Amino acid sequence: MTVHFIGAGPGAPDLLTLRGRDLIAASPVCLYAGSLVPAALLDHCPPGARIVNTAPLSLDAIIAEIAEAHAAGHDVARLHSGDLSVWSAMGEQMRRLRALDIPVSITPGVPAFAAAAAALEAELTLPELGQSLVLTRTPGRASTMPPAESLTNFAVTGATLAIHLSIHNLAQVVADLAPAYGGDCPVAVVWRASWPDQRIVRATLSTIEQAVAGTMERTAIILVGRVLEAQGFAESSLYAADYDRRFRPQGAMSRFEGVTE
Ligand SMILES: C[S@@+](CC[C@H](N)C(=O)[O-])C[C@H]1O[C@@H](n2cnc3c(N)ncnc32)[C@H](O)[C@@H]1O
Repeated sequence: MTVHFIGAGPGAPDLLTLRGRDLIAASPVCLYAGSLVPAALLDHCPPGARIVNTAPLSLDAIIAEIAEAHAAGHDVARLHSGDLSVWSAMGEQMRRLRALDIPVSITPGVPAFAAAAAALEAELTLPELGQSLVLTRTPGRASTMPPAESLTNFAVTGATLAIHLSIHNLAQVVADLAPAYGGDCPVAVVWRASWPDQRIVRATLSTIEQAVAGTMERTAIILVGRVLEAQGFAESSLYAADYDRRFRPQGAMSRFEGVTE
């Protein structure tokens, strides 16, 4: 028996991986985080599967469900939105399961920030302009932040920011970032990326609050950075016609001439 943690993707049912789909189909028990995981993914469960929405359950109750499946020898598909590596609460479940000697597997999923970037048709790293992406959040009712991980500290770097779980804090986000990024810095808010009711608002740090005007709640990502509107960035050297590289050696003097692997 194994608990298969599966990244369910950002919302569109066809953004689930093939491996995730097959594990759901092979597991007689499915636990899913109902607040963000699309119900359509449950269509992959086998007939007669036990399907439990864990949104109203405590950690103790979730582990009890898994322990019961373990005692019966039933594999469990455990679905969390996006990818499991960020804000999935997988860590605390894994710690309990390891203590109980229950085996696990992990299947990654498409994270929300990637779906938001796709919706914007944007690359979040551009040559010379932005080479770092910070996935972060602001403090919430149930989560404090480590003191050094403040937006004002990240702002010093000028990196592109993907700010999660913070649309209700938009005024503070703007106040923290505007001094370093400038009021004209591009911002995009993507609400429910990849869902049928996806919405995008593009503005600047000076205008984003008014542009959103309280119309977006909960499931939104705030992206901030010059890469969002940039047109005048350099092309990458890697694809330059005269760049000497292993897969495209430049003449007999190439350091890669004759290199076969
Ligand atoms: C608990 S976190 C889950 C993150 C998820 N594990 C991931 O890989 O993206 C929930 C937050 O992720 C963001 N989020 C999740 N799905 C989203 C979507 N489809 N569109 C925009 N933001 C989303 C929002 O900031 C939301 O408040």
